[in-house]
Amino acid sequence: MIRVLFADKPPNWPRYEGPLSDAIAATGLEAEIVQPGEADPSTVDYIVYSPQGPVQDFTAYTKAKAVLNLWAGVERVVGNTTLTQPLCRMVDQGLERGMVEYVTGHVLRYHLGIDAALAQQDGVWHHDGGVPPLARNRSVVMLGLGALGKACAEALAGLGFAVTGWSRTPKEIAGITCLSGEEGLRAALSRAEILVSILPDTPETTNLLNSRTLTLLPKGARIINPGRGTLIDDDALLASLGVGQVGHATLDVFRTEPLPPEHPYWAHPNVTVTPHIAAESRAETASEVIAENIRRGEAGELFLYLVDRSRGY
Ligand SMILES: NC(=O)c1ccc[n+]([C@@H]2O[C@H](COP(=O)([O-])OP(=O)(O)OC[C@H]3O[C@@H](n4cnc5c(N)ncnc54)[C@H](OP(=O)(O)O)[C@@H]3O)[C@@H](O)[C@H]2O)c1
Repeated sequence: MIRVLFADKPPNWPRYEGPLSDAIAATGLEAEIVQPGEADPSTVDYIVYSPQGPVQDFTAYTKAKAVLNLWAGVERVVGNTTLTQPLCRMVDQGLERGMVEYVTGHVLRYHLGIDAALAQQDGVWHHDGGVPPLARNRSVVMLGLGALGKACAEALAGLGFAVTGWSRTPKEIAGITCLSGEEGLRAALSRAEILVSILPDTPETTNLLNSRTLTLLPKGARIINPGRGTLIDDDALLASLGVGQVGHATLDVFRTEPLPPEHPYWAHPNVTVTPHIAAESRAETASEVIAENIRRGEAGELFLYLVDRSRGY
């Protein structure tokens, strides 16, 4: 009998209780799922972890074979000095589909000029702007081609958009122009009519979009950031919006969350704030990923989605 600690915040337990028990049972393993305080930490085999949960010190979990994060982002745990166990991030089909829908929706909104249409219900026949170009004549750039960025890039390419992706290492993805490295970033930004950033928060990605890189964008570019707030230098973005270099930004993630009420983004006419709702792990599908990793741990196989702690994601 293995012991699994469910260490997400307690209100999330009812959503996971059935799916996680079922998914582990489906692997053929016998498991007892406990919550923090219900078992001696030194008897726990696997920790289902969340950055919002009560367990942030892993010192007492001497037997644990892995920490299985329920979130895709690991920036709040990757530098935890008490963590000596392997750390796995979440790659979940439900999370991925949510991100694809969020990104596709906001790209289409920009592409079709939906905000302008909503603002122009004024009895005037605004035909002078003409029809929007076809998607194939609209250049969309995806910063990050990981589990989420790649799925979004492919969905947008499937709608016909001219999609360029940028990642740390070179890639080949059918239907996507893939770039990497410093030179690749410059080339990608210079063609980004719509820029989507789905990068992780690491020392290398912090302030990637800054006063220098934002000037590389075509004038009036739109930005969608469901990655992490640290990717953007906020003062540089506000300055860029002020002079029209960036035409509009849709921001889902922020350096401080919840975004403080006095933050200039809230009242900015060219910023849309969404409250970190682009995508979240779904209990049914995320439980299957957790269960598969527990199965692998018990079988002595390599874990899925192992975080490279030196790289930070
Ligand atoms: N807003 C939300 O609701 C929400 C929900 C889930 C996740 N997220 C965010 O989305 C992020 C991405 O998730 P994921 O599952 O797609 O992660 P992932 O699979 O680890 O992919 C990360 C991508 O970023 C690239 N990358 C990392 N560092 C880079 C650098 N210095 N320069 C260029 N490219 C770099 C990686 O390049 P390589 O492929 O070359 O390694 C990879 O393509 C998460 O870390 C999280 O912050 C947000």
